[in-house]
Amino acid sequence: MNFQQIFGNPPEAEASAPGRVNLLGEHTDYNDGFVLPIAIPQKTTVQIGFSNDGQHHFYSQNLDDQVSILEINHTPSGFASYIFGCIQVLKKEGYEIPSLNLYVKSSVPIGSGLSSSAALEVATLRAIRQLLNLPINDVEIAQFAQQAEIHYAGVQCGIMDQMAASLADTEHILFLDTRTLSSRVLPFPAGAEIVVIDSGVPRTLASSGYNQRRAECEQAAQLLGVKALRDITKLEATEDLPEPLRRRARHVVTENNRVLEVLQILETRHVASLQRFGGLMNASHASLRDDYEVSVPALDTLVEMLQKTPGVFGARLTGAGFGGACVALVAKSEGRAIATKVLEQYNHNGYTGRVLVPPTDF
Ligand code: GLA
Repeated sequence: MNFQQIFGNPPEAEASAPGRVNLLGEHTDYNDGFVLPIAIPQKTTVQIGFSNDGQHHFYSQNLDDQVSILEINHTPSGFASYIFGCIQVLKKEGYEIPSLNLYVKSSVPIGSGLSSSAALEVATLRAIRQLLNLPINDVEIAQFAQQAEIHYAGVQCGIMDQMAASLADTEHILFLDTRTLSSRVLPFPAGAEIVVIDSGVPRTLASSGYNQRRAECEQAAQLLGVKALRDITKLEATEDLPEPLRRRARHVVTENNRVLEVLQILETRHVASLQRFGGLMNASHASLRDDYEVSVPALDTLVEMLQKTPGVFGARLTGAGFGGACVALVAKSEGRAIATKVLEQYNHNGYTGRVLVPPTDF
């Protein structure tokens, strides 16, 4: 069913936003640090029009589900909570939002750590901006989307995902300083491409583990007398922290340094540096596994298989961890063959992984 069939008239505006995969800089964004995401080809599209019955109506094509909302109602659950959150944030910002009809369709995988929620929020805010001609820039879109996620979806996330959905594309790597929100787009290295494989293991502990890590980082920063762990650049400074704070801080400090090194590699565009880029991704995985403790055996297995495969420069878990997907940097034009081979090997161990990038289903 399309917009017209659901709502009785055609949409008046349409906007999209992509999912993202983070290449490096994991669990650094809520420490005011640096990240390097890139958009994936899968995206979420929102079509929009005015509703004339005083209620908002949201329809998800993927779920074939419609949710209707009277303003006085409390926050809905599921996909509607992200859309409702965006509308509420805009209202808090002082914008007058009339009753809306929204139609959502998405090819971004849900629950794999590729930011399907940020794609939905940013696509929703873009569609509303277009429909109502709102004077909002792309950084504000990301900030409003993050507010929606924190206050209406209940996830204490950083701003990486929403900035990536709002500013990134599939041809460039986005370098983002999450403290200043200054960003740069750098061309993706010519000799490489990315592979993303979902481990098939759901991110069960993701929200409790995530919030716990966040709290540990805040505690470490407080003990070190800095605003955020971003302010620590030398590892020695973390050595006297009690465990596990020492290990958590060590991950954040080394991960920020890895991102800054890759930034230099991307700036010089030296082909031989792809090995080093990959090596830093491998080091990131080890750090997430041993110091930050957000990996699980399935992710370690998948990453190890990727790392051992010829043509792979480096691989790591991506996103919050505790399940979800792995990303690998691989030689150009070899992505599909590498992904197919590793998936077969991985699933042979009893897992139900799937290849997400390069995409197969569209
Ligand atoms: C999730 C959050 C992001 C970021 C990553 C970990 O994707 O939404 O803000 O913290 O985890 O790097």
